[in-house]
Amino acid sequence: MMLKRNPFSCNLTIIVEMTLSEFSFEPLRKRDRDACAEMIISTLGNEAKPYADKNTVKKALYGDKKVTLVARRKERISGLINGTLLGFPRIMFLTVADEQSAREGLGGMLIDQFVKEIKKISPHAKLILHNEFADNFNAIGLYSVKGFKVTGFIKDPITNRDVVFLEKSV
Ligand SMILES: CC(C)(COP(=O)(O)OP(=O)(O)OC[C@H]1O[C@@H](n2cnc3c(N)ncnc32)[C@H](O)[C@@H]1OP(=O)(O)O)[C@@H](O)C(=O)NCCC(=O)NCCS
Repeated sequence: MMLKRNPFSCNLTIIVEMTLSEFSFEPLRKRDRDACAEMIISTLGNEAKPYADKNTVKKALYGDKKVTLVARRKERISGLINGTLLGFPRIMFLTVADEQSAREGLGGMLIDQFVKEIKKISPHAKLILHNEFADNFNAIGLYSVKGFKVTGFIKDPITNRDVVFLEKSV
């Protein structure tokens, strides 16, 4: 039996994706760096403080070997994901700005978009890494659902808090 390719299947997928999600995703624009750094600092709260004054976060978001994707609902920034391409690709910051977007699954969509972007930039990448505070249950739950596995633990020397190493094969 010969299977025929449905010429409409590809377009249909795109329409379904657009209908299901009100978010659009784009690389960080330079002019949004301040707003994004502030969003990260405010949603991470105390966890960010040992690492993250605004200037340090801004430098992490934009520049060579940095990947930052911003999610917008209409024109408003609803979340972002950021990482580096030094060595293995690594997610550094993931933040959803409001409860509604979190409940609509924006965190997971941002991880999916990041993986797609990494495969586009580095088609040979095999792994994506992330370190997370062990008590950030929401984040670890989300990364697990998205296929990340725990590969190790460390006591963070700056904060003295437990950190888990996560990785996903891509
Ligand atoms: C980590 C994160 C992206 C996970 O998102 P997610 O798994 O898709 O969604 P969550 O399960 O966290 O969101 C649902 C819950 O969080 C709340 N929530 C998430 N982001 C929120 C926000 N910015 N403002 C208010 N409430 C928020 C929701 O109300 C909901 O509460 P519940 O625990 O009573 O059910 C999200 O929790 C977040 O942005 N956290 C702050 C940043 C952070 O810790 N990032 C990881 C380290 S880089």
